[in-house]
Amino acid sequence: MAVVGRPRRSCLAVPGSSVKMLGKAQGLPADQVFLDLEDAVAPLAKADARKNVVAALNEGDWAGKTRAVRVNDLTTPWTYRDVIDVVEGAGANLDCVMLPKVQDAVQVQWLDLTLTQLEKTLGLQVGRIGIEAQIENAAGLVNVDAIAASPRVETIVFGPADFMASINMRSLAVGGLIPDYPGDPYHYILMRILMAARMHDKQAIDGPFLQIRDVDAFREAAKRSAALGFDGKWVLHPGQIDAANEVYSPDQADYDHAELILDAYEHYTSAAGGMLGAVMLGDEMIDEASRKMALVIAAKGRAAGMRRTSTFTPPG
Ligand code: GLV
Ligand code: MG
Repeated sequence: MAVVGRPRRSCLAVPGSSVKMLGKAQGLPADQVFLDLEDAVAPLAKADARKNVVAALNEGDWAGKTRAVRVNDLTTPWTYRDVIDVVEGAGANLDCVMLPKVQDAVQVQWLDLTLTQLEKTLGLQVGRIGIEAQIENAAGLVNVDAIAASPRVETIVFGPADFMASINMRSLAVGGLIPDYPGDPYHYILMRILMAARMHDKQAIDGPFLQIRDVDAFREAAKRSAALGFDGKWVLHPGQIDAANEVYSPDQADYDHAELILDAYEHYTSAAGGMLGAVMLGDEMIDEASRKMALVIAAKGRAAGMRRTSTFTPPG
């Protein structure tokens, strides 16, 4: 079914150590920003990055964007301080905490409990800060069903760079194809993540594409996960944003067709329409399963602010 959630077609990575980029990101048309305290920030810059991120969340104009902060993973000494400083400092202006390199459900439960403590202390509604769980190693993928089950988890995010490194996968282009491998090396991983996400009605987000100057190659990589049903993809550069927003929205013809199917099926199944469960719409046979597929596309189109350009007129 269509997963309703915060918009995340394009998820822009913004290094927390760069005040300049924290400012610039606010004017870009990404659905989501995630202010990074993890791999884009050098160890010696982590403490200042926390302060930059808190200031940017409180003082910046993020209107219309989903606001996330990526903390460091739980094998480091930084995670608890990241969470406490950012949520205490800017919890009211934050939508989600992203936890990278999640290995099992216990790690997500730790974050859930810690956020609950902070929300209670700060007088915030308990549960209002969501979790984004990044799957970046074999343990995370093997345990992804349990990770996705946590009620606070809003989305499962693929981290291809760390994932490749962790399983010794050979690749020249992260997010691209491996020259010596005939298929798509990410297919299984993406589908595994998608199954866990959908089982628990969560969003599934594809990770970064590192060749930031090659927007055509980015678009091809994005189309692969969009075709499977992923809801969005990370963008590392402003030049990738429009392509992501476009690829993870239905095109106008598909959106119009989905709305047409919904109207037509509602008509034909009604008493006035003959109470028909399977019916021809033009050259296409539609039934209840067609309605379900149309609902997914219509929900994505509506969420992207699309407007239909045709209407259904009952025959007769
Ligand atoms: C993202 O975090 C990645 O490792 O690809
Ligand atoms: Mg990573």
